[in-house]
Order: sequence, then structure tokens, then C-alpha cells
Amino acid sequence: MRIETLALLLQGQAAGLPEHRITDIFKPLATPARAEAQIAELTLAITGAIFLIVGFLIVFTLWRFRRKPGDDAHQEPAQVYGSNQIEIAWTAIPILIVFILIGVSARVIASVQNASPPAEALKIRLIGHQWWWEIHYSDYGIVDANEINMPATPDGRMATYFELQSADVLHSIWIPQLSGKLDLIPNRTNYTWMDPRSPGIYFGNCAEYCGTQHAYMLLRVVARAPQDFKAWAAAEQKPAAPAALASDGRKVFDSLACVNCHTIRGTRAVGTFGPDLTHLMSRQTIASGALENSHDNLKAWVDNPQDAKPGCLMPSMKLGAQDLEAVTAYLELLK
Ligand code: CUA
Repeated sequence: MRIETLALLLQGQAAGLPEHRITDIFKPLATPARAEAQIAELTLAITGAIFLIVGFLIVFTLWRFRRKPGDDAHQEPAQVYGSNQIEIAWTAIPILIVFILIGVSARVIASVQNASPPAEALKIRLIGHQWWWEIHYSDYGIVDANEINMPATPDGRMATYFELQSADVLHSIWIPQLSGKLDLIPNRTNYTWMDPRSPGIYFGNCAEYCGTQHAYMLLRVVARAPQDFKAWAAAEQKPAAPAALASDGRKVFDSLACVNCHTIRGTRAVGTFGPDLTHLMSRQTIASGALENSHDNLKAWVDNPQDAKPGCLMPSMKLGAQDLEAVTAYLELLK
């Protein structure tokens, strides 16, 4: 087992949250995902039945009308034209099936998209970027990235509602065990919601090709027990840790172009082009889920992001060894 994998597993255990790494749509763990899995099962059942019936008829016909000894090889089989019953049957039945599937799908789409959030529901504005996720918890004044924290809701009454937007191109949110795909579209707001029934970490990814690093535009939902979510939010609301602000690395960071793209609350770093780093160390991963948030990975990432994610929009700052160490140490104090 690779060291990183082991560390990630240990970290998952330390957080006390089970990980749902197998993103299986047939094991739904939230209401929208369950409704969509049921349509998928119905569609598979109907199309499976069609497959079996058509397959059987083909095999039966091949066998029943095969050439037999004594057949005249030059004699054409009897040609049959025009049966009103058959014509009507194979027109009406597919139309019926299509309308059943349209009806069932429309009902589920409406039930997911028209749900209106209760007043106390957590509301999140999620913005897709090449190639990371910006997460706004407006009611809490928190901006975070790539790991969506929300309360788990055993009875389904505390669902989390999303406004989905894009800063550049089409993206699509997909947490298979919580909800189906929905696009994040420039100049438009889409809405969705999720109600993870039990605390855990649910893995997902961008599901719409959005450029070079689409495949590494990963995201995860961290569903916590409601009181744990409150504690997480309270920690995130705090400004950057005083130890970080007092560190030497902060001076280096503040003198670099880093501040144009990243925000660290309480410093001159107020950029919004890249992820907010105020509580970087509260995240399990960096580079939008591509790397575990470890010392070595963080240092290598700051040194040259293009190694891990070629084409990503963060440039190498070409830091000297000492500055690289100082900036990494600064980032690691952003707890
Ligand atoms: Cu964002 Cu694919």
C-alpha cells in the first residue's frame, strides 16, 4: 500500500467519518440519489425485458426457420407483407414505453428540482472554476474550496441546498451516492439539494468535460453530525491563526503574486481567482482532491503545480529553497 493511501485512510479514521469511496449510483444514500436510482432500475428492467424478448425472438426465428435437409436451396421462403396487428403492436408498445419513462423521469426531476428549502436549511453557493470548486456558506460568512461540509440529516429534514454557478466554462457536480449530475453554467444559476442520511465522506467529481484538468476536478462532501458541523463552521469563521500571521513565511507570501489569486483573511492576500487559504489545513486534500494535504505534497505543489496538474492555472513561483520552506511552513499554520 502506498504511503499516501495509508495516510489518507488514517486521516479518514481520525476524523471518525466513514468514507464512501465507491461512487455507486445503485447504493444511494440520500433522497435525490435514491429517486434517481429507482428510475435507473425501472429503465434497466424495461430495457432488459425488451432485450430478452427481442433476443429470444431472434434466436427462436433463426432456429425455427433454419435450412433443413431436403429444402430447395434455390426456393425463396414465403414472403409475408402487411399485418395490421403486428404494425399496430410494434408502434403502440414502444410509444407506451417511451411515455412511461418520460412520465416517471419528469416526476422525479420535478420532485428534485422544485423542492423548496426550509428556512433553516443550509444554503451553499457552489462556483465551478477551471479546475476547482469555490464554496460559499453565505449565512456563515465562510468561503472554502473543494470539500463541501454539511450536516448529516438522519430524518432528511435538514437538507442542504445549492446554487450552482460557473466562473468560466461548463462544469457539472456529481456526488453519485447523494444526487445526480447537474451542470454549472456561466451566467445562469441552477439549483439542487442533498440530504446525506448519515455522517461520512462522499466522493464525487466534475462530470462535464471542462478542459485539461477536468479529470482532477474532484470534490467531496463531508457530512458531519449537526453539532460537529456547527463546530466546524465556528472554526472556519475565525480569521487566520495568529501563529501563521506572525510567521516568516507570511512575509514571503505577502511579497509574491500569490496574494493576487488567494485570500487569507486578516492579510493583504485578497485574491479570489484561486481557493481561499484561510483555513487550508482544515482540508484533507489540495489541488481539488488530486493530492492528500501533506507536507511533502504541499511543498511540491507550491514549488511547481504543473508537475501534479499539468495545465492548471497556478504558475510555479520559482521560489528558492529557503522561501519555499518558509511559505510551506506558513501554509501549514493555516489551521
Ligand atoms: Cu469542471 Cu469538468
